[in-house]
Amino acid sequence: MKKLAILGASGHGKVIADAALLSGFDSVVFFDDAWPKLAANGCWQVVGDSAQLLSCCRDFDGVIVAIGDNEIRASKSIVLLAAGAMLTTVVHPSAVISPFTVIGSGSFIAAGAVVQVDAVIGRFCIVNTNAAVEHDCTLGEAVHISPGAMLAGAVSVGDRSWVGIGACARQLVSIGSDVIVGAGAVVIRSISDSCMVVGNPARPLIR
Ligand SMILES: CC(C)(COP(=O)(O)OP(=O)(O)OC[C@H]1O[C@@H](n2cnc3c(N)ncnc32)[C@H](O)[C@@H]1OP(=O)(O)O)[C@@H](O)C(=O)NCCC(=O)NCCS
Repeated sequence: MKKLAILGASGHGKVIADAALLSGFDSVVFFDDAWPKLAANGCWQVVGDSAQLLSCCRDFDGVIVAIGDNEIRASKSIVLLAAGAMLTTVVHPSAVISPFTVIGSGSFIAAGAVVQVDAVIGRFCIVNTNAAVEHDCTLGEAVHISPGAMLAGAVSVGDRSWVGIGACARQLVSIGSDVIVGAGAVVIRSISDSCMVVGNPARPLIR
């Protein structure tokens, strides 16, 4: 009986729960700081808050954080690792993952995603529904590649960066750390750290 604990009773959490049950876990429970007011997430039980998960995390065969905010997901994952949690990777069975990839612990690869040969995915990442991470791409820690986003060959993405839904990046570009690439953007040049870019071609968002 393989048991998974998910921190974060979110919609994203349900997506991970669903994928986990299709990929070898037998049961899933959630932990969330909104507990006990929040007692269920879809058809799954919320059984405690993050403090309680810390005290029992070693009882689970896998633990994963389902919090969309990249910085919070990374920091909660690191605390769980320090408490002895078996931080797991969840890969939906319909994802296509080359055997010549490295995927860090605590990462989630969603339905229909493709991760090509020699890609390296850091810890705590999300490669979301139907996203593509082409050959030789490198994702740092806690990166989120949103649904339908496409990274061409050898793109690098720094820690905590978020590539929005349907965005794409030309081969060989480097996207820095803490970057937000807006929905539908087309990245054709490298982007420095902490920028928010939108549009085609992607340019910094000026307010
Ligand atoms: C880029 C983004 C983060 C900006 O969000 P925000 O700070 O709340 O920005 P606002 O919605 O206030 O928009 C500010 C301006 O930028 C423009 N803008 C926002 N997002 C844009 C985008 N993706 N492409 C082009 N222009 C965009 C808006 O039209 C607005 O322009 P205006 O001031 O001329 O009206 C957000 O729009 C976005 O694209 N998020 C990604 C969502 C996503 O991928 N979700 C998937 C989750 S799994």
